[in-house]
Amino acid sequence: MKAVSGFSKMTKEQKINWLSGELEGEASELVANMPMYWHQDTNIQKRLDEFSENTLTNFNLPFGISPNFLINGKHYSVPMVIEESSVVAAASLGAKFWIERGGFTSKVISTKKVGQVHFIWQGEKQKLNSFFSKIKEELLLSVHHLAVNMEARGGGILSLELIDMTEQLENYYQLKLNFNTCDAMGANFINSILEEIASNLKQKASLESNFDPDERDLNIIMCILSNYTPECLVECSVECPIEQLGIFAGGMGPREFAQRFSTAVKIAEIDPNRAVTHNKGIMNGIDSVVLATGNDFRAIEACAHAYAARDGQYRSLSSVSVKDDIFKFSIRIPLAVGTVGGLTTLHPLAKTSLAILERPSAPQLMQVMAAVGLAQNFSAVKSLVTTGIQKGHMKLHLLNVMNQLGATPSQIEKGKEYFSDKVVSFSSVRSFLDSIKHLQ
Ligand code: MEV
Repeated sequence: MKAVSGFSKMTKEQKINWLSGELEGEASELVANMPMYWHQDTNIQKRLDEFSENTLTNFNLPFGISPNFLINGKHYSVPMVIEESSVVAAASLGAKFWIERGGFTSKVISTKKVGQVHFIWQGEKQKLNSFFSKIKEELLLSVHHLAVNMEARGGGILSLELIDMTEQLENYYQLKLNFNTCDAMGANFINSILEEIASNLKQKASLESNFDPDERDLNIIMCILSNYTPECLVECSVECPIEQLGIFAGGMGPREFAQRFSTAVKIAEIDPNRAVTHNKGIMNGIDSVVLATGNDFRAIEACAHAYAARDGQYRSLSSVSVKDDIFKFSIRIPLAVGTVGGLTTLHPLAKTSLAILERPSAPQLMQVMAAVGLAQNFSAVKSLVTTGIQKGHMKLHLLNVMNQLGATPSQIEKGKEYFSDKVVSFSSVRSFLDSIKHLQ
C-alpha cells in the first residue's frame, strides 16, 4: 500500500475509493462495500462521522436489554452494547436471581475527580511553598469564570494542593486539584481549568519578587485530568440467608454452593492470573453499559484495573462473605461517568439508553453499572463453580456456527437437540448439517 497525503481532506467516497484501489481481490471489494453500513438518515450519519476522524463507515454492535434489575428498590431495564455472546444473558440471569432475594443495594461513596498540573521548578522548596500559599486563593479566583456554571449546579473545584514529587523526579512538582463535576464526566471542564491555572501559575512565578531570576522560570510540563479516580467510588452488594440461595445444577445444595463460590472469589483475591479473568467478567457487564450510555470505556477500564492493583497486587474487584448464615457478595469500583454532555446527548442511541434508564444522575448511573458488573460476575462464577462455563457458551456458539453455515430454522432445531449432550466444534456442526442437508 502507498503512503498518501491529504487523506483527511478527501470526501468519504474518495477515501473509500482510494483504500479500495490500494487493495486487491476480496479486500478491495470489502472496502468498496463499506457504504452498505452507512445510516439511511444522512443527518444521523453526519453526526456519527463527526465523532471521529477519517471515518469510512459505521461499525455495528448489538444493543441489548437486561431487564429485572432491582437496585435500591427501583426497577431498571439496563441497555447493554456488547459483541460477546452470553454477557447479556448472564447479566439478566443474575438480575433475575437477585430480584427474588431483595435486589441490589448500591451506594456512591464519593464522586471526586482529579486533575494535575505537572511542572518543573528549580529552587528552595520552602520558597515555592510560601509562594503557593500566597497565590493559592488568587489562582482559584482566576478560574472562577470557568467554574461558575458548574458551581451553580453544585459542583466546582473542591481542593487545590501543591505536591512535592522531587524525591521521585528531580525538581518535579504538581498542582493537584479535586473536582465535583456533577452529572458531567467533566474532562473538558477539568482540562480547561488546569490549563488556565497553569498559565496563571507560570505568570505569577515570573513576577515573584522573592524568587531569584532562575526561579522565575517555572516550567509547565503538562496539564491533564487523571483517569485514576479512586475517590469516584461506588459500592454495590447483594445478600440473602444461605438457605435461600436454592438448589443449583446437578442438585448442588446452597451450603456447598456458598462454599465453592466464596472459594472461587477468594482465589481471585490472591491470584492475579485468576483475578484478571474474574475482573474481565465484571467489566463485560460494566463496559456494556458504559458503551450503551456513550461513556468512555477506556477511562473506566484503565481506572478499574489500577484500582484493582492499589495495594501493589492485582486483585478481584468483588468480594464475598459467608457469615452468620448470610451470603453477601459485593463490589467496590471507581466509575467516573457522565449522564450529560459529550456523547451522552449527541449519540442517538446513548440518548436512548439514558432515556430507558429514566435519565439517571451520574451517581445513579454509577450504581446501575456496579449492579450490572456484580450480576455479571455472580452469573459467571456461579456457572464456573456449578456446571462449568462451556455449557451456556456452547448453546450460543452452536447457534452462531449454524447460522454461519446457513442452516435453516428446522436444521437449527435438529442441531440443538443433537448437540445437547455433545461437544460443539465448527467441523462437528458442519458434518452434522451435511448429514441432514435433505431436511429444509
Ligand atoms: C468471559 O468473557 C468472562 C469469564 O471468563 C469471567 C470469569 O471467568 O469469571 C466467564
